[in-house]
Amino acid sequence: MLERRYDFAVGRTNPETFPVQRVQRAAHAAIANEYEELTNYHGKLGHAPLRRVMAQRESEREGVAVDAESLALTNGSMQAVTLIAEALTQPGDAVICEEVTYGGTIAAYRALGLKMIGLPVDKNGMRVDLLEAKLDELGAARKPKFIYALTTYQNPTGANLSLQRRRALIDIAAERDIPIVEDNCYGDVHYDGDKPPALYALSDYEGIVYLCSLSKILAPGLRLGYFIAKPKLLETILARRHDAGGNYLAAAVVAELYKDGVWALTEELNDALRVKKNLVVDGLAEWGEDVCACSNPSGGLFVWVRFPADVDQNKLARIAAERQFFYAPGANFHIHGEAVPYLRLAFGHVPDDAIAESMPILAQCLREARTSNAAKGFRGIFD
Ligand SMILES: Cc1ncc(COP(=O)(O)O)c(C=O)c1O
Repeated sequence: MLERRYDFAVGRTNPETFPVQRVQRAAHAAIANEYEELTNYHGKLGHAPLRRVMAQRESEREGVAVDAESLALTNGSMQAVTLIAEALTQPGDAVICEEVTYGGTIAAYRALGLKMIGLPVDKNGMRVDLLEAKLDELGAARKPKFIYALTTYQNPTGANLSLQRRRALIDIAAERDIPIVEDNCYGDVHYDGDKPPALYALSDYEGIVYLCSLSKILAPGLRLGYFIAKPKLLETILARRHDAGGNYLAAAVVAELYKDGVWALTEELNDALRVKKNLVVDGLAEWGEDVCACSNPSGGLFVWVRFPADVDQNKLARIAAERQFFYAPGANFHIHGEAVPYLRLAFGHVPDDAIAESMPILAQCLREARTSNAAKGFRGIFD
């Protein structure tokens, strides 16, 4: 098999900082303390102590009370993405989302037969200023069943939805009675600047469903995520759940690990990720200024790289792979699979020295894959 020395293709967390011994101790304690509960079923909301810890995580971040009874644990946040769509739509229904968004969601919505209607993204996140016109254009017959929004550290662009757009999004959705699915999966992978508030912290609108994950602050292999919704919506969504609840052991271990809160450990992991993010951003500024521009996200696990439209993307993929460099092409994130001139670098699990070594390689591949010598023709990822 081809060696994948510089593998930026798939979003993962950092194995170097996985807290092995702390998780081992937590697992030991969880099994000793909860073996009796492990011999039972626990309903659709899931492990109560972990729900309380996650409700506390949310209240502390957002500054509003979150009731653990309105929070359901899921098999990763991806199960919530799918379950919510299954509960709120029929095949053929329309949903609004960002024009570039998480590939897993695109695949799930496609499989459910949903028609994704995209709004462009700029440095302030989803172009909510275009939402009303889009809804008017769709009319009552094609009214979207919900709006899916990656509000914070948007995957793949890294953009944060501005406060003004957050408020406008809620106002428009509430006025037109359209649910909002807010995916805040990366919300605590934070590097610098202010943390924008979650939509549910800004409004009591009953149509907001919020989802978050343990995959990004700890590890996706745990398959733990959750969603929060007001009672009526919670009931509608849970009515579609038929898996007899999530993995109780994983939840028990993580509840034990975080029994004194999530922040100390999360900040430790984020410190190492910030170094990696800066190595990517600084490396591309140093080596690739003539041929690309990239995001400098204030959180999340990705850098979004723009390159000239004359880059032959097949050639780029081929010569990069020959040099053991792998990335996710922009088309993976476009709701209609368009080969947009962007690529995404997932840096979370790549060793620091491999990041530093490989940014000149990526820049050189981009140069060699171009079909003209024209100036690159843009300044940033959006302008
Ligand atoms: C925006 C977004 N939502 C949801 C997920 C699903 O993550 P998980 O199911 O591991 O929580 C991902 C994973 O990359 C993601 O990027």
